[in-house]
Amino acid sequence: MNKHTDPIVIVALDFDNKSDAFSLVNQLDPKKCKLKIGKEMFTYLGPDFVKEVVALGFDVFLDLKFHDIPNTVAKACVAAAKLGVWMVNVHASGGDMMMKAAMTALNEFGDKRPLLTAVTVLTSMDQQQLDKVIGDTAIIEQVQKLALLTQDAGLDGIVCSAQEAKVLRGLLDPDFKLVTPGIRPEGADKQDQKRVLTPKEAVNAGVDYLVIGRPITLAEQPQNVLEQINNSIA
Ligand code: C5P
Repeated sequence: MNKHTDPIVIVALDFDNKSDAFSLVNQLDPKKCKLKIGKEMFTYLGPDFVKEVVALGFDVFLDLKFHDIPNTVAKACVAAAKLGVWMVNVHASGGDMMMKAAMTALNEFGDKRPLLTAVTVLTSMDQQQLDKVIGDTAIIEQVQKLALLTQDAGLDGIVCSAQEAKVLRGLLDPDFKLVTPGIRPEGADKQDQKRVLTPKEAVNAGVDYLVIGRPITLAEQPQNVLEQINNSIA
């Protein structure tokens, strides 16, 4: 893959209906961005919607964050790969047996295999929430532990907070991908995101792919906003 022509912005398609989704998608160019389809859209519109978007030439990140027994997750990843998506993900807290089973199943697809990434600790979790789940571990320690577990299991990367990227980049292999939401262009509304980085700051921190939703999806001229973001990180 040519790094210079491979778009690194992943636009989050967070819509509850197909016509709103396509009115945005039809304004976007697969050479300038990838697209993310998450649980809401997938639950409303299902695999046919994913196939339609893939058929338009977009690299699609199917963000369903699988977390189940190894056999079930491996089969779900195979189903995702059959849709032709570019990336699929799991929860690292499902364990390395689960992640290895998913990777082994995906390796059957050879060079058509989607990238497999894992979520470490959801950025919506604060220390108090994490304490109630595992107790006595700092969030950053848990993130680092799960990031290393993911790398050792042979996955391609992790989904993490842009704020954690710098520390993680120092810990992980250079080609291990960091995918981060919580990105806001300079001066953009933060909405419910608390700790944000600009696209340029994120890239400088070692992030490989930037997940950006509302600054693009709610813009009057989405392609112009995308163009400005791409220029800012060129
Ligand atoms: O609109 P915005 O840029 O905030 O959208 C970010 C996207 O990334 C949304 O689809 C959101 O669900 C997702 N995401 C996130 N934080 C995470 C994981 C996923 O914002 N920790």
